[in-house]
Parts: sequence; structure tokens; C-alpha cells
Amino acid sequence: MPDITLTTLNKLKQSGEKFACLTAYDALFAHLESAAGVELLLIGDSLGMVLQGHDSTLPVTIEDMEYHTRAVKRGNQGALIMSDLPFMTCATLERALDASTRLMQAGAHVVKLEGAGWLAETISVLTRNGIPVCAHLGLTPQSVNVTGGYKVQGREQAQARELLADAIALAEAGAALLLLECVPSSLAAEITRSVSIPVIGIGAGPDTDGQMLVMHDMLGLSTSGRLAKFVRNFMPGQPDIPSAFSAYVKAVKAGEFPAPEHEF
Ligand code: KIV
Repeated sequence: MPDITLTTLNKLKQSGEKFACLTAYDALFAHLESAAGVELLLIGDSLGMVLQGHDSTLPVTIEDMEYHTRAVKRGNQGALIMSDLPFMTCATLERALDASTRLMQAGAHVVKLEGAGWLAETISVLTRNGIPVCAHLGLTPQSVNVTGGYKVQGREQAQARELLADAIALAEAGAALLLLECVPSSLAAEITRSVSIPVIGIGAGPDTDGQMLVMHDMLGLSTSGRLAKFVRNFMPGQPDIPSAFSAYVKAVKAGEFPAPEHEF
């Protein structure tokens, strides 16, 4: 059992205290991030891009996710560990059950799946089987070939209404957490108010219960030299990487990150 549990995150939501989340892919960074007070570590399938050098998350396999989840579990100092279900593992209920079992046995406390309202049944079956689920809505990178790029979602009224309805349906189906990626701040705020479960945002403004960033981004590391609008580089002014992690946690808790320049 980690020190931070879903109960902790629910209490933080109720009290209005923000919580900090970061991606982690190995034991060393899992150790440094959790020791700095990051409450939730995500083994994201973003590892396909930042570690493996692919141009999307699609090539990431369940074996890759198991390997990195095991490594993060070994370094973790009490944070909640969440692992991504990779591309196509939710195409059928049977595949979702098999892949989620493998991630939980590798050390995850929660699995995250990308999708929308159609995943309600999968979420409720996983939950009934003791597997807590985070539903990832908004920009879902595994669908990049359908959406035609990494674009902000929910800008139009009809799409915003659909996202809100999906969030409510998935929370009712038993989702333990929601993650909203790249949606307008006003929509993220409305979704966060409308569900009783904790909502984590990345590029979703300041009003979600928790904040998430990809570790490499918040350390200012990218092969292109560019960072997305919603990212802040926490390295400048810090003597070392552990201090940058602490600065991130402090900025999230103080409501200083994200700032208006990071919002859509
Ligand atoms: O894979 C990942 O790192 C993610 C975050 C961008 C939320 O899903």
C-alpha cells in the first residue's frame, strides 16, 4: 500500500488542496519525484516518444509498460502509481482485463485508459474486479490518426457538451480519477465541479484538483528545443533536478502553476 492512496486524493479534492503528478519511467526518477512530494507518478505511454524516440505513442507495448512500471515501483517512496494501458488494449473487454491485470501485477495502483463514454462498461468491470481506473479525456494521443494531430479539444460548444457528458458518465460507471488533456480552462473547471472524483489536468488550466506534466518537459528537455504552451520549465533558478521537482510541487500547491500564459 502506498502512503498516498485514492482516499488521500479524494480528501485533497474535498479540502481544496491541489496535488502534483508527474510522469516517471524508471526507479531513479520515481525515487526523486516521490521524495520531492509528487503525489502521483504516471508511467505514461509518452515513454514511446520521450524514451524510445517514436513519433507517437502507438508503438508502445504492454511488455514496455510492465517493464517501466516494475522499475518505478522499485524506486517509489510512497506515491500513488498509475500506468497507461497502451494502444488497442481496450479494444475488447477481455484485452482490457488482461492488460490491466499485467500492469497491476507489475506494481500499478491505478490504470489509465484513453477514450470516451463508450468505455463505461470496461471501467465498471475493471473496478468491480479491484482495478481502479483513471479515464483520460480531451486530447487522447492514441487517437492522433483519427483526430489529425495533437489539438486542443472541446473548444466548440457541441464538443464541450459531449466531453462534460462523457466525464459524468465515466465517473458514474466507477472511474476513480479523470485526466483532462488540452481542454479550455473553463470546460475543465466545469467538469471538475460536476464530478465528485478527483480530476487531474494537463493543459487544462488552474481549476482541476491535480496537475500533471511530462517529466522531460518540466525539466526543459526536448529534442526539438520547443515546449508546448501549457508547459513550464522548472529548471531555471534551481541548482539541480530534485530542486526542480520540489519547485513544481510548491507551485502546484500554491496555485502558481499553471499561470494564465499556460492556459487555453
Ligand atoms: O502518456 C502520458 O504521459 C500521458 C500524459 C501526457 C497525461 O498520458
